[in-house]
Amino acid sequence: MRNTFGNVLTVTLFGESHGPETGCVLDGLPAGFAVDEEQLKADMAKRQGLPELSTARREADEIRIVSGLYQGKTTGTPLTIMIANQNVRRSDYDELTDKPRPSHADYTQYVRYRGYSDRSGGGHFSARLTAPLTAAGSLVKQMLVSAGIEIGTHVLCLGDLNDRPFDAVQPEIREISEKNPPVLEDAVLAEMKAAVAAARTEGDSLGGELETAICGLPVGIGEPFFDTVEGHFAKAMFAIPGVKGIEFGAGFELAKMKGSQANDPFVNREGKIETEANHSGGINGGLTNGMPVIFRTVYRPTPSIGLPQKTVRLSDGEETTLTIHGRHDPAIVLRAPVIQDAMSCLVIGDLLASFYGVQWLEKINR
Ligand SMILES: Cc1cc2nc3c(=O)[nH]c(=O)nc-3n(C[C@H](O)[C@H](O)[C@H](O)COP(=O)(O)O)c2cc1C
Repeated sequence: MRNTFGNVLTVTLFGESHGPETGCVLDGLPAGFAVDEEQLKADMAKRQGLPELSTARREADEIRIVSGLYQGKTTGTPLTIMIANQNVRRSDYDELTDKPRPSHADYTQYVRYRGYSDRSGGGHFSARLTAPLTAAGSLVKQMLVSAGIEIGTHVLCLGDLNDRPFDAVQPEIREISEKNPPVLEDAVLAEMKAAVAAARTEGDSLGGELETAICGLPVGIGEPFFDTVEGHFAKAMFAIPGVKGIEFGAGFELAKMKGSQANDPFVNREGKIETEANHSGGINGGLTNGMPVIFRTVYRPTPSIGLPQKTVRLSDGEETTLTIHGRHDPAIVLRAPVIQDAMSCLVIGDLLASFYGVQWLEKINR
């Protein structure tokens, strides 16, 4: 469905960048789970990013849960999260109504919605909508953590600067979970900060990759053929604005390997069947195999840049030049780890609810 993700645990998203509110409705949650609202606030703060690495648009991102929560516990009925837009500056976008930004969603939505959508700040296609998604996914994350499932995402690369990849068999999730933005090596973060400062001065932007690992999933979760674990994750990740690719395990490197190198031999570790390597990214036949699920996504450089760019005026079709003045993220990848974590939690929550039913928390097979 268009603005709804999931089969059993669903999330429906609404709002615009410069409208009064954004929000989402989570349906199919287990009843009776005590939500830690302080933890939700902490996750929302991570999405803001560090001031020196992010947009100058700072939003309070105060969450209001207006249904589905009673006496601090989920009721099992639709849980609605509302987040007000408070730091709105529509005037930054006046020129862009007629001059679509290259590689943003201004032109596509103009045609799709016959010119009626509120395109200010990207409208419904703005990264503002990742605020309610982050809140929703973080709420589900609390449930997953209580069931022994861990999730972590780090910045694997920014431009040509690389962090160390996760150990695919035992990813260091705890090591990176408190850092914002999360990288495994402190020296690399310092280099990334310098690269962002340079891109900002040039009026340009940077792209990068994120790597996510999920540990502690039961074996056999996922639905053949069309709701495979890979397929479900891919659909969720492409909902994050700016994501242009995904690979699982050894991913595109598999093309260069032989079967003898690519296969993950089975071993018996203290009575548990595991694999020695994890080139499959924890997934075989679209089902979890009990090893960490590992995937990487690529984020484009932020489309809105300060340098002059070619565009076409929508009112008369004339080619013209556009110089963007608004407040923008120099590298969206640095703000996205908590969003990718949250989307991953919505995927896993839905796969578990599909397998065990909505009260999956009571039934999960450990
Ligand atoms: C956290 C986050 C922040 C973003 N900030 C900006 C921004 O400041 N300026 C911008 O042009 N795009 C920004 N984007 C990316 C655009 O929203 C995205 O490129 C656009 O909606 C087009 O979607 P597509 O790149 O997936 O095709 C951001 C994305 C994310 C995830």
